[in-house]
Amino acid sequence: MSLVLGLETSCDETAAAVVRDGRHVLSNVIASQVALHRRYGGVVPELASRRHLEAFLPVVDQALREADVAPRGLDAVAVTTGPGLVGALVVGLAGASSLALAWGTRLMAVNHLEAHAYAVFLEPGPDRGGPDGRGLRPPEPPMVVLIVSGGHTSLAELSGHVRFRPLGETRDDAAGEAFDKVARHLGLGYPGGPVIDRLADAGDPGAVALPRAYLQPGSLDFSFSGLKTAVIYHVRQAEAAGRTVNLPDLAASFQAAVVDVLVEKSFRALEVTGHHRLAVVGGVAANRGLRRALEARAEREGVELLVPPPELCTDNAAMVAGLGHFLLAAGWAGTEPVRVNPSLGLGGRERRRGRRGR
Ligand code: KG4
Ligand code: ZN
Repeated sequence: MSLVLGLETSCDETAAAVVRDGRHVLSNVIASQVALHRRYGGVVPELASRRHLEAFLPVVDQALREADVAPRGLDAVAVTTGPGLVGALVVGLAGASSLALAWGTRLMAVNHLEAHAYAVFLEPGPDRGGPDGRGLRPPEPPMVVLIVSGGHTSLAELSGHVRFRPLGETRDDAAGEAFDKVARHLGLGYPGGPVIDRLADAGDPGAVALPRAYLQPGSLDFSFSGLKTAVIYHVRQAEAAGRTVNLPDLAASFQAAVVDVLVEKSFRALEVTGHHRLAVVGGVAANRGLRRALEARAEREGVELLVPPPELCTDNAAMVAGLGHFLLAAGWAGTEPVRVNPSLGLGGRERRRGRRGR
């Protein structure tokens, strides 16, 4: 049995959570900064760091209190060390290492991208005892993981616990970043994903012809910046011709273009690896159009689809604590040097670009 405190400050959420055995979420506290950054249309790194500093200890206190766990009962403190905003990561790591030192507890460095994948092993809500309160067996690797959020779009193979093999990633904008930039251009506010998701309900996904970037045959990489530019041109042309833009139609067409590519590449990755289990995580996994398309295709192809509830898809610390447990189980001693790495990629590699390239 393990009890791990997870800490997450890589972007605009200050979060702390206590998780038992990498599975049972005993507490999951998130102080969101969305309201702070909304007026700027995106995350302002310096403001994010300062807010993390203010929120960090109260969030940790609350997570321990709600879980009814004393610091000496913890097996490890797991903290996100990358990828993310450097100042924000430094606040989290400084706080985590101070707490671990004061409590005499191990400190585990956690990769934020890999932690997103570990949301699929979590059981949300109160611990109802037994192997699984829902009567389900916990999912197990191997599987293909699609990580789609504001800062990441990556496909990976999880061949065994904490064994990630990168298969593809975005060459420019992340999927969520494309949602946010398109929404900002259309004056729909921040974050853009949920607004476009709602607007798309009332629109026709076939109304506006938009490109799908599949790249070279066999490539599992993504590119969304051309799609974003096509939306911007569509608006400019309509304005120049004195036509009003039908926002629901444009939102539905844009969303369909993103969803088509994400679904196609995920199923291509299943084919290449020979796996029959697909996990989809990160903020964009909350998108209802994406969920519907994945469910339909998974059903058709006999694939087991794992999509966490929305609150575990977006940034949280339960996923960090969850991965912390599996790192412990894999023999990480918690004595390895720990430092922040803003451009950390899956499997410890450097990413081609930093997160949040707004
Ligand atoms: O995982 P997350 O909270 O933070 C990062 O690690 O980036 O993801 C936030 C991203 C934002 O870009 C937001 O617009 C997007 O997830 N998002 C959505 C939806 N809900 C959040 N995108 C599409 N549809 C949604 N329903
Ligand atoms: Zn994230």
